Amino acid sequence: MLPAACGLPPPPGLVAHRGASGEYPENTLASLTAASEQGAHMLEVDLQLAADGELVAVHDFEVETAWGPRIVEETPAEELRSLISDRNDIGAPYPTLAEILTALPGEMPLNLELKRRRADAALWPDRLLEELGARPRVLVSSFDWELLASIRRDAPDMPLAPIGARKPHDLLRAAERLGAATVHCHRRLAFGDFFTAAGSSGWPVIVYTVNDARTARDLFARGAAGVFTDFPGALLEELDLA
Ligand code: G3P
Ligand code: MG
Repeated sequence: MLPAACGLPPPPGLVAHRGASGEYPENTLASLTAASEQGAHMLEVDLQLAADGELVAVHDFEVETAWGPRIVEETPAEELRSLISDRNDIGAPYPTLAEILTALPGEMPLNLELKRRRADAALWPDRLLEELGARPRVLVSSFDWELLASIRRDAPDMPLAPIGARKPHDLLRAAERLGAATVHCHRRLAFGDFFTAAGSSGWPVIVYTVNDARTARDLFARGAAGVFTDFPGALLEELDLA
């Protein structure tokens, strides 16, 4: 499946990592909206399944509150959001997926990164697919390849992307098993052999996290299809993509 199927333009692609997270609190509506307005080609959002079944955009599995640490997957979204809204260090509520879909332009390509540690994996496909409905231009990724496999069983056409930071052969095997659209990897895997192997199977590689133009150019020259960046606006300009 080509990146176009999930809304990613031909390389080089700039994916806003947790929105414009270098300038705004990560994974918030402010961060995502800013990245969209800056012209990012796709927005990456980290999602977790809260205790009440809501999908909430938050990166860390545990968040600090005035009452001590809370485990996101063991806290109802409403409680999490009320704790976070005025007392946490980002000073903004973490949005639900429903709020994100409402706030952003319907054609904006989204990369939803599913994060799971304790939540019941069996609950994920229904919740995600119900929330997404027929929303086009969505690429679903995860370090949890089994979770992606369960999404694949219920959504044969959903663009999927396994993420990996080590064990490149395992990552490529996961992409094969999943019928992946793209492969997402840490910079430490982003070398010639990996791009060649992924490219020979037709998987564009998107690399995280790249905030300087020189590294981005180098990665594109080596074969990266895209990079995740915390500064999409600045990088678009520096790469003459604005
Ligand atoms: O999806 C790419 C990247 O976001 C994965 O790592 O920890 O930033 O979610 P992390
Ligand atoms: Mg992420």
